[in-house]
Amino acid sequence: MIRFGITGTGRISDWVLKGASQDSRIRITAVCSRTKEAAEAFIRRNPIAENARIYTSVKEMAADPQVDAVYIGTPNQTHCDYTVTCLKAGKHVLCEKPLAINASEGHRMAEAAKESGCLLMEAMISTLNPNFREVAARIEEIGPLNRYSSYFCQYSSKYEALKRGEVATAFKPGTAGALRDVGIYTIYPLVALFGRPSEIRGRLHTIRTAEGISDVHGTAWLSYGEMDAVLTWSKTYDSFQPTEIAGENGNLILDEVHIARKAEIVPHAAPTSGQGPKPGRTTLSEGLPNNEYYYEFKEFADLIESGRKESDINSLETSLTVLEIMDKLLD
Ligand SMILES: NC(=O)c1ccc[n+]([C@@H]2O[C@H](COP(=O)([O-])OP(=O)(O)OC[C@H]3O[C@@H](n4cnc5c(N)ncnc54)[C@H](OP(=O)(O)O)[C@@H]3O)[C@@H](O)[C@H]2O)c1
Repeated sequence: MIRFGITGTGRISDWVLKGASQDSRIRITAVCSRTKEAAEAFIRRNPIAENARIYTSVKEMAADPQVDAVYIGTPNQTHCDYTVTCLKAGKHVLCEKPLAINASEGHRMAEAAKESGCLLMEAMISTLNPNFREVAARIEEIGPLNRYSSYFCQYSSKYEALKRGEVATAFKPGTAGALRDVGIYTIYPLVALFGRPSEIRGRLHTIRTAEGISDVHGTAWLSYGEMDAVLTWSKTYDSFQPTEIAGENGNLILDEVHIARKAEIVPHAAPTSGQGPKPGRTTLSEGLPNNEYYYEFKEFADLIESGRKESDINSLETSLTVLEIMDKLLD
């Protein structure tokens, strides 16, 4: 049994508890909110948290002996302080993406995890998704690899609000913006598969908000020797392009990189002059047996059960490399 404390009672904490509820090892024993009323309302609408104790201070919740681990579902600028506080109190931490607002904070968090002997994992759902895992297992078949292209472009209701002058958490200058909010979903899986790129270039489109400059869409080009990665993200327009890895011996395709619901492979057909039949797609896996947020809680609980301090998939090295790439793109 793993007893969780939850920080933040916004919609992301509601969403993740739907996934957590599907793992019988998870209990919610504490909820921390800035207000007692918000915590009470959160507990009323989430049956898994019905017996949770309420806190209005992360430090106090972290001192609760009935809490083994903390999920951090608050805005990006709180991740570092809350994580370090919980790790120092001997709690494992599952922290929302991005792990921190920059690599310097990320390194502080990784250091605190090492010193505490506790588990720290970024709650990046995309790489723990079984359809993504299927693609990851088949990459050798299509190599040598030449190109990776990934998209996460979704017109956001918060962009609509931004145009009216309201700056939502997702657009806060200096701590959020489109890159940290959605661009990260194109970068993290790439780094989880291929590690650190040799070259990073990009262009971020920004707008002036009442609170400063915020990025709203962008494109990045990352090099991995013979393979180039082209990443595109947006909160101002939609795209229906899949994410694709192309190699000399075929292609791997995910319908969406954020929450993949279908993985396909297209083996390279016999060489043609362009007149021959097109190669057919084969479905590798389809659908998700569990709620999309279940898989991060399963990975986290498996790691605690086996006494391991880091995920091989959502590793701290991947999280830190992603933060370094984002720092460079935001520079
Ligand atoms: N994995 C995903 O699919 C996904 C989706 C969306 C967001 N996220 C991540 O989740 C995090 C929260 O984003 P969001 O858009 O949900 O933010 P949000 O709605 O502004 O905040 C979430 C909750 O955090 C608490 N909070 C708000 N401002 C705070 C502050 N200044 N200091 C401390 N606590 C504060 C509030 O809970 P109380 O009122 O209870 O204090 C709020 O309901 C971000 O890191 C974001 O990147 C992940």
